[in-house]
Amino acid sequence: ALGVPSVQELAKSLKEVPTRYLRPEFELDEVSKDESVQVPVIDMGKLVGGRDDEEDELAKLHEACRDWGFFQVINHGVAEEVILKMKADVQEFFSLPLEEKMEYARLPDDIQGYSPSQVVTGGRKLDWSDFLYIFTQPRDGRNMRFWPRVPSSFRETLNQYSTELEKLNTALLSFMARNLGLEPEKLLSLFEGGRQGVRTNYYPPCKQADKVIGSTPHSDVAGLTLLTQVNEVQGLQIKRNGKWIPIDPIQGAFIVNVGNFVEIMSNGEYKSVEHRAVVNPEKERLSIATFNNPNSNAVIGPLPDILGKDGKKQAPKYKSMSFQEYMAERLREKKKKYYA
Ligand code: SIN
Ligand code: FE2
Repeated sequence: ALGVPSVQELAKSLKEVPTRYLRPEFELDEVSKDESVQVPVIDMGKLVGGRDDEEDELAKLHEACRDWGFFQVINHGVAEEVILKMKADVQEFFSLPLEEKMEYARLPDDIQGYSPSQVVTGGRKLDWSDFLYIFTQPRDGRNMRFWPRVPSSFRETLNQYSTELEKLNTALLSFMARNLGLEPEKLLSLFEGGRQGVRTNYYPPCKQADKVIGSTPHSDVAGLTLLTQVNEVQGLQIKRNGKWIPIDPIQGAFIVNVGNFVEIMSNGEYKSVEHRAVVNPEKERLSIATFNNPNSNAVIGPLPDILGKDGKKQAPKYKSMSFQEYMAERLREKKKKYYA
């Protein structure tokens, strides 16, 4: 129905990679070999409870958001069982036969559901990945049609995971607000009741791994994205000083990145950084990205308190618009880029 086969099935059956997955445009990209270049690691344990090193850790978080747009967070308070269960259930879901996964298939005009990465239009190149995307918060915005019933624990696991990650998102935003000189409430109220979506990505191995891309370079349309790497296979890379930096995930940590909304609200002080996912020649890779968005009443624009910070008047670097206008504009851009 979606016009594109599941990449997972393609990877199992084919000798040659179909040409519409071959991406010669990325072959010359420079990937950093310097393993010591890594995104900052933020210890949230130092940010709660009035410790002596709290100010230093807050400063580190501020610098991570300004300079990198990405960091890993440890001691984040999300129970390990919840993360492990989520990883296990996601792995089990993707190992189901295709027909079973297709019970949750994305419908042509929807973005939720199980899907090969894209709907085919024209000659557009495709990503070497499948995904399952589900709106998880607020609760009354859920469409259970897309929530897998197999494995039997999946629904409860996702419910718990999403609830925990909503709390973590709120905690991170309030630290960022402090760092930006904002009343935490002023930032948090924009996200209150905002949509959270959980996207689980499945990247099959590819014999021509260097000729395909798992996730085309992009920046995230979100407030913050919280990423869990499911298995030990690396693949996420971020763009920094013109090079791709491979991220080396810490066990049990979340990889956090500033999304477009936080970049805009901070008037560009925090950066929504371009990233991509590459594919492994032998091993499958799975990841779980949780996107946390402002609510639909939020004005998307630089916050007045940021523009007037420290008694100075900063010029806005972004237009202000409604959430709906912002989303419509992103969709127009995407169509222009991909469906022209
Ligand atoms: C993405 O940001 O599109 C994918 C991230 C990942 O799989 O690591
Ligand atoms: Fe992303």
